[in-house]
Amino acid sequence: MTWQQCQAVISRRSELPHGHILLGLKAPPVAARARPGQFLHVRCGGDGWPLLRRPFSLAGILPAEGEVELLVRRVGKGTAWLASQPVGQVLDVLGPLGNGFPRPWQKQKQGDLLGVAGGVGVAPLVPALLEAARTGWDVGLLLGAQDAPGLLLVERLRASGIDVSTCTEDGSYGRQGLVTELLAERLPGASLVFACGPPGMLRVVREMTTAVECYFSLEERMACGVGACLGCACQSGDGYHLVCRDGPVFSAREVQL
Ligand SMILES: Cc1cc2nc3c(=O)[nH]c(=O)nc-3n(C[C@H](O)[C@H](O)[C@H](O)COP(=O)(O)OP(=O)(O)OC[C@H]3O[C@@H](n4cnc5c(N)ncnc54)[C@H](O)[C@@H]3O)c2cc1C
Ligand code: FES
Repeated sequence: MTWQQCQAVISRRSELPHGHILLGLKAPPVAARARPGQFLHVRCGGDGWPLLRRPFSLAGILPAEGEVELLVRRVGKGTAWLASQPVGQVLDVLGPLGNGFPRPWQKQKQGDLLGVAGGVGVAPLVPALLEAARTGWDVGLLLGAQDAPGLLLVERLRASGIDVSTCTEDGSYGRQGLVTELLAERLPGASLVFACGPPGMLRVVREMTTAVECYFSLEERMACGVGACLGCACQSGDGYHLVCRDGPVFSAREVQL
């Protein structure tokens, strides 16, 4: 077992557009073991409600600081509670959980990694893109959102040397259109694609990437988060997989969306 239940202290928080929030968590045991694409299962609520923990991808892994980061979109009671917690608040977390993305850059010196994300789907891609770029891979990110404020973490990624291309549905920033239209132009030359976003986006990415290795980070409602309740099963070619235990990262050809 590589995960554990531990306390994480909110060390910093920044409000981002459209109700998103970036939280820094001091959690040295998690930061020391975490891999890009893994997630934390967080108890969200001081009064025991919501009863079930909520899963969040690691949007930053900073082992030297003993910190990880979460990018949170407020959608309901649990995320509203988490997003409203002050610096210094102690959180009860399980993690790091899940399999994470493959990391071929640990063996291959050169490669071209392309991330494709919709909105908050950028979160699990960030640590993978940064790690691959640090080892000398060419790394690009195609990021789509409904409007300009929905394009999260763009400046931070560009400052780290990631080539970020953006598009918005309303045309308020970058190209007007869907992120898959950017993918059509950028796919030639990519040796590996990582994607996270709504199922409709992932279906199109899968159709477009039949000739290149492609992995998805999937989101599914979760209860236990550790493979015990079967609550997060998703269909695959050979039966079903548990998103929390076997994922959340799957080969694009492995899962049904
Ligand atoms: C592996 C994994 C990684 C995730 N990473 C992130 C992340 O980095 N940042 C982030 O903001 N969220 C992430 N999520 C989604 C997040 O867990 C949910 O948004 C959260 O559990 C909602 O809790 P809530 O109590 O606020 O909403 P609830 O009150 O439970 O639900 C409110 C509304 O949100 C919808 N909803 C709830 N969960 C999901 C979900 N998983 N996907 C889509 N819609 C949902 C519900 O259907 C409902 O309409 C991730 C989920 C998984 C499984
Ligand atoms: S959430 Fe319980 S098995 Fe995945």
